Amino acid sequence: MEIVKRNGPPEDLIYFDDELPLEEKHVEDVIEIFNTPLTGAYNWDYTVAENRIKRLYELGKELNWNGSIDLDWSYNHPKDKPLVGGELFEPPHEQLDAWKNLSDEEKIEFDRHETAELLCQFLHGEQGALLVASQIASCAPTYNAKLYAASQTFDEARHVEVFNRYLQEKIGFHYPVNANLKALLDKILTDERWDLKFIGMQVIIEGLALAAFTNLKLDTNCVLLKQLLHYVIRDEARHVTFGINYLEEYIKTLSPEEVEDRAQFAYEACVISRDRIINTTAMQKFLKMSPEEARQFTLESGAMETFRNFLFSRVMPNLSKIGLLTDSIRPKYEELGLLEYENAPSDFEIDWAEITKPLESSEQIVKESNEQAKAVAEMLNQA
Ligand SMILES: [Fe+2]
Ligand SMILES: [Fe+2]
Repeated sequence: MEIVKRNGPPEDLIYFDDELPLEEKHVEDVIEIFNTPLTGAYNWDYTVAENRIKRLYELGKELNWNGSIDLDWSYNHPKDKPLVGGELFEPPHEQLDAWKNLSDEEKIEFDRHETAELLCQFLHGEQGALLVASQIASCAPTYNAKLYAASQTFDEARHVEVFNRYLQEKIGFHYPVNANLKALLDKILTDERWDLKFIGMQVIIEGLALAAFTNLKLDTNCVLLKQLLHYVIRDEARHVTFGINYLEEYIKTLSPEEVEDRAQFAYEACVISRDRIINTTAMQKFLKMSPEEARQFTLESGAMETFRNFLFSRVMPNLSKIGLLTDSIRPKYEELGLLEYENAPSDFEIDWAEITKPLESSEQIVKESNEQAKAVAEMLNQA
């Protein structure tokens, strides 16, 4: 075992293209230390309340899948076909001359890098979720929530496992964590208020991830990636449901000042997620744009605006449901143009019929996802 301490995450790409068998590889664990004043709680009652949290815990056990067995790792996506199809909307960079002037091979290379950069943010976010879920098992005050958080911790471990395996085996490199995503994870992991971790992770990050995973699932042509995302999404829907159900009750026990504090934090997390967690490294590299040019281009493109609003249309109703759209915070969301989504349907996250059905086969997933992609594309075109 070799552990190497660093003061921050790596800044460069990491390649996994060497052919050495795993047992001969020299593995260096590169770590970064964080300190957290965790206020934990034992629970000495062990009373099993028959509530939604208990049902979610049972569901988590029932729907456990094994990434090594249940996913078809023998699938290799054709090397000359892009991973992402642009089925939902035309990616804005495709209108740029710099992109049009790339050769077919370079376009494929660009697609691999853009997809890897996005998938790596999913991977790093999943690691954050793994660490937060384990903290919540310690901190959550009620018995059912502790058991649920433990089962979520195992879900997140499997998510880290499958995203990492896909990136290492099928793409061959890792992108470093986006600095703003890292800052948000730092804040959530090191805050001493456990419910703030809970709000940041279960409602904001997981809510947005759920929408972003769904988007990529519909947009990718890779059957393995589609299936992988589908199974992860099934788990995430349960995690978000847990967050909303638990917080809906818990926030009611806080004083008005404490609620304002949480509302302000949720708003700040939304702003970072909306305007700062934007992946532009592949654009800089292939389309020769400066970081600021690439960011501005992405922020200003109409298609991205529609897409980002689509992400938030899933989070706003949940914030409203748990009581974090307070009178003083509402004008700030109004300014971002997000308040109009507070009454948008968020049924997927709390649709029991949807989250309790048995896991689907790969063929079923592809068929349903094609139908769903058509419906979403129509919706986005109308917007
Ligand atoms: Fe996850
Ligand atoms: Fe999760």
